[in-house]
Amino acid sequence: MIDLQGRVAIVTGAGGGLGRAHARLLAQRGARVVVNDLGEGAETVAAEIVEAGGKARAALGSVTDAARMQAIVDEALSAWGRVDILVNNAGILRDKTFAKMSLKDFRLVVDVHLMGAANCTKAVWDAMRAQNYGRIVMTTSSSGLYGNFGQSNYGAAKLALVGLMQTLALEGAKYDIRVNCLAPTAATQMLEGLLPPEQLALLRPDLVSPAVLALVSDAHPDDPVRRRRRFRGRPHHPDHGHPHSRRSAVGGNPAGTAGRGYGPSRRDRSGSGLGAEPAGAAQGRIHRSGNGGRRMT
Ligand SMILES: NC(=O)c1ccc[n+]([C@@H]2O[C@H](COP(=O)([O-])OP(=O)(O)OC[C@H]3O[C@@H](n4cnc5c(N)ncnc54)[C@H](O)[C@@H]3O)[C@@H](O)[C@H]2O)c1
Repeated sequence: MIDLQGRVAIVTGAGGGLGRAHARLLAQRGARVVVNDLGEGAETVAAEIVEAGGKARAALGSVTDAARMQAIVDEALSAWGRVDILVNNAGILRDKTFAKMSLKDFRLVVDVHLMGAANCTKAVWDAMRAQNYGRIVMTTSSSGLYGNFGQSNYGAAKLALVGLMQTLALEGAKYDIRVNCLAPTAATQMLEGLLPPEQLALLRPDLVSPAVLALVSDAHPDDPVRRRRRFRGRPHHPDHGHPHSRRSAVGGNPAGTAGRGYGPSRRDRSGSGLGAEPAGAAQGRIHRSGNGGRRMT
């Protein structure tokens, strides 16, 4: 059983949906959890955890506010002495076809998902390097990995997180900082109204959280492909080949989970700006195939 006693975790956007489920499970396994969200949901979830016998503190603030995220990390460090786990989960949607989408909405979504994750990761990075330990999970999406109608902003931001993960996994490896992506599907407010109730009932957020637990555990599996690619000394530029791998080798995620499967193509006809993820994604690893490409399993 995965035991997180002694670990300190930060989960962003944990006032509801998947983040709440992640925070509760990490606390159940012994982690002290910082529950971040924009509003009082963070306080409610922190209180739920404490009531259940766990340790949690609420930390309100937007992931887009780098200074606030640094302050939250500094508060956790002074209260609990360390930060071991960061789950970059906060997210929003502003769905529209690209033709109808304003650049303001494009930027907003990129700012929350990509810059939000970068802000929070930057805020923990030095502390994780100094303690020679860290586990970071980015929340990507099948909309980024495959594309989804009406989600150009979201898909772009979500695939950018995969790129961020790939590089940080390389840069963090020597400090035992492991960085991975999760591409979930769950019945949260993001999926509201898009699937029949009997299908939504099967997509409980707490069924996704064990994947996060595995990715943030001490014994998180490392990947032989990445181990081979790990380069001693200078940075690796994939366009220029690599001393330890074939020229065609790009990417490769150490046991990262990524979604697969296409959900129903959909479009936010309501004009509300709110939509949801495609259904049908499942967790799997990104592997490099024998020819240096990738396949999903
Ligand atoms: N639900 C799915 O099927 C699905 C599929 C793929 C990816 N995801 C991703 O999973 C993550 C969680 O989504 P969810 O389905 O639980 O949605 P949700 O809307 O229930 O939860 C998102 C949470 O993030 C918070 N949030 C939004 N902007 C924030 C900000 N600037 N700073 C801090 N918190 C902020 C919200 O208040 C909310 O509590 C998101 O990154 C989402 O893109 C969800």
